[in-house]
Amino acid sequence: MSKSQNIFDNQEFFDGYKKIRSNRYSANNLEEKPALFSLAPDLAGKAVLDLGCGYGENCAEFKARGASTVLGVDISEKMLAVAIEEHPDIEFLRADMSDLSFIKGKYDVVFSSLAVHYVEDFSAFAKSVCDVINPGGYFIFSQEHPLTTAPITGASWFRDDDGNVLHYKLTDYARGGKRNTKWIVEGVEKHHRTFSEIVNSLCEAGFSIERMMEPVPTEETIAMDKSWEKDLHKPNFLLVKAKKQ
Ligand SMILES: C[S@@+](CC[C@H](N)C(=O)[O-])C[C@H]1O[C@@H](n2cnc3c(N)ncnc32)[C@H](O)[C@@H]1O
Repeated sequence: MSKSQNIFDNQEFFDGYKKIRSNRYSANNLEEKPALFSLAPDLAGKAVLDLGCGYGENCAEFKARGASTVLGVDISEKMLAVAIEEHPDIEFLRADMSDLSFIKGKYDVVFSSLAVHYVEDFSAFAKSVCDVINPGGYFIFSQEHPLTTAPITGASWFRDDDGNVLHYKLTDYARGGKRNTKWIVEGVEKHHRTFSEIVNSLCEAGFSIERMMEPVPTEETIAMDKSWEKDLHKPNFLLVKAKKQ
């Protein structure tokens, strides 16, 4: 079906991911989602495409914000089964988002939440996304932070003898390319890109960058649980709001 890995259909991974996402104090809920929705333009009457839609919860929010059409695309049969069951009023399609030639028509806003780091060729992907957006429309995405995807042996921290985080172990930042990591299971393929590669690929595809975000925990979150403080050394996520020229 595709050239991209489909790790979310691995049962062990699927179950582990579900567990992480069911925690209301996850980094997704406390950092990524608020930042993503803060970048959203007025969606009333807009055609919205969500790439790597997972359970479809963002699609439901786009609809609630007045989008006229919403299409959720995902490579995983298991993730889409949940999406279809929980949001029967929304259209979902199983496809590899790394090549959008299957998309008919144009969209006003394309979102992608925490999925683009699974796409190998970001430059080709950015062009493919630009092709399906109306002039003046937006591509808004979040991804694992480039400082997280950088280390070839996986993200890790230096700690003192009591286990307190001292600082992040940053390696391999300038070595772009595939990363074979352990996240829930062994062998999860992600793709590391530097900031300049991300920004230049978007600009070359025909986008201008309106805003970028690297959300960090609030003071209340840190007061609740001090372990969140390490995100001030290295944010978990990078978000970009890019406008088609
Ligand atoms: C971390 S989950 C995020 C799900 C959802 N966007 C959210 O934020 O709740 C990443 C999703 O991207 C999907 N995905 C990964 N690679 C993909 C690809 N090449 N094409 C389409 N979907 C992909 C996965 O199946 C998974 O559902």
